[in-house]
Parts: sequence; C-alpha cells; structure tokens
Amino acid sequence: MSIRRELPADSDIIADIYTKGFDTDAEAKLVNTLRESGAPYLSLVYEDGNDLIGHILFTMVELEGDNSNIRIMGLAPMCVLPGDQCRGIGSSLVRAGLDECKSEGYDAVVVLGYTGFYPRFGFVSSVEFDITTTFNVPMEVFMAQELKPGALKDRSGRVKFNQAFDQFKC
Ligand SMILES: CC(C)(COP(=O)(O)OP(=O)(O)OC[C@H]1O[C@@H](n2cnc3c(N)ncnc32)[C@H](O)[C@@H]1OP(=O)(O)O)[C@@H](O)C(=O)NCCC(=O)NCCS
Repeated sequence: MSIRRELPADSDIIADIYTKGFDTDAEAKLVNTLRESGAPYLSLVYEDGNDLIGHILFTMVELEGDNSNIRIMGLAPMCVLPGDQCRGIGSSLVRAGLDECKSEGYDAVVVLGYTGFYPRFGFVSSVEFDITTTFNVPMEVFMAQELKPGALKDRSGRVKFNQAFDQFKC
C-alpha cells in the first residue's frame, strides 16, 4: 500500500472512486474540472496493489481582501471507496497531503467539512483566525490550519474557492 501523486492514466479510476463514494457524479466531475482549471493543485492517490482505493485533492484558493502573497491550499474533495472506509486510508491521505503542501511551501490549508474528522489533523475552526469564506455555512465547519506558524495571524479576508465549487453553494 502506498500514497503517491496522481498520474495521467489514473483519472478515470479516480472518477470511479467518487462515483461510487457519492450519490451523484458531481464530485467526479468536480475533480476533472479542478484539474483542468489551471489552479495549482496537489492530487494524491492511495494504491493497494494494483488498485486505487482513495484520492485527495488540494487546490490553491484565494484570500480575497488580503494583499500579501499568502499561499493557501483548499482540501476538497476526498474520497475512499465505500468498502475500504474506516480503515485509516482517508486519514493517511490527509496527513500525506498536509506534509506535501508543507514541503511545497504553502502557508496554510483550509477545509469545509466534518467537524468530527478534520480537527484530528490539526484543523481548527476558522473563527480562531480572521478569515471567512464565500460559502454560506456555519463557521465551525470552515476550518483552517497554519503550515507555517503564525501564517494566518494578522491576515484577514474571505477565502474564495475555485469557481468549480459554486455548484455546491446553498
Ligand atoms: C470521509 C472519508 C474520506 C474518510 O475516509 P476513511 O478512510 O473512511 O477515514 P479513516 O478510516 O481514516 O477515519 C475514519 C473516521 O472518519 C470518520 N468519518 C467518516 N465519514 C464521516 C462523516 N460523514 N462525518 C463525520 N466523520 C466521518 C469516521 O467516523 C471515523 O471516525 P473515528 O476514527 O472517530 O471512528 C470517507 O469516509 C469517504 O470517502 N466518505 C464519502 C465521501 C466523503 O464524504 N468525502 C468527504 C467530503 S469531500
């Protein structure tokens, strides 16, 4: 079992993971759109033998209203094949992704998601920082973590995710 960067030949299998993990193909299409959007991204797969059973994507987001050159990644989406969930694969993907983002020099990572899952990797509610999001969601589900200590201190603004996410806005 290993985690590695996505290769061009993986894209159909990755789409299949999302189609099986979600009720619709919206997330599978989202991954394809984000990959082609031109925004910097990090795409990792979890490989078990010859099979891909999990995937995670990070795409660079914009901090509207901030004129520093802060580089923030947005974690979304991620998915593990239904039959392989709750075996630690998702956690391994999050940790590997955070390590990669850090080694690539990103300042922080944000995520909109389960408050029972992401805090274990160091994400805290964004209310700890002076950042909001263009999504109309309870603030506790919008979480962030600094990859460089103090990176979000004295920064403020609205995190704007890639427009490919707009279809998921309430
Ligand atoms: C969320 C997901 C990626 C986690 O991957 P995983 O390999 O099952 O996760 P792990 O085995 O590392 O960790 C399991 C933990 O995640 C939690 N978890 C899984 N789905 C969850 C959910 N919908 N809400 C809250 N927590 C969830 C489990 O309760 C478990 O918590 P525990 O360790 O306290 O028991 C996976 O369940 C999945 O693909 N779900 C469907 C797609 C999805 O919801 N993706 C995330 C949003 S883009």
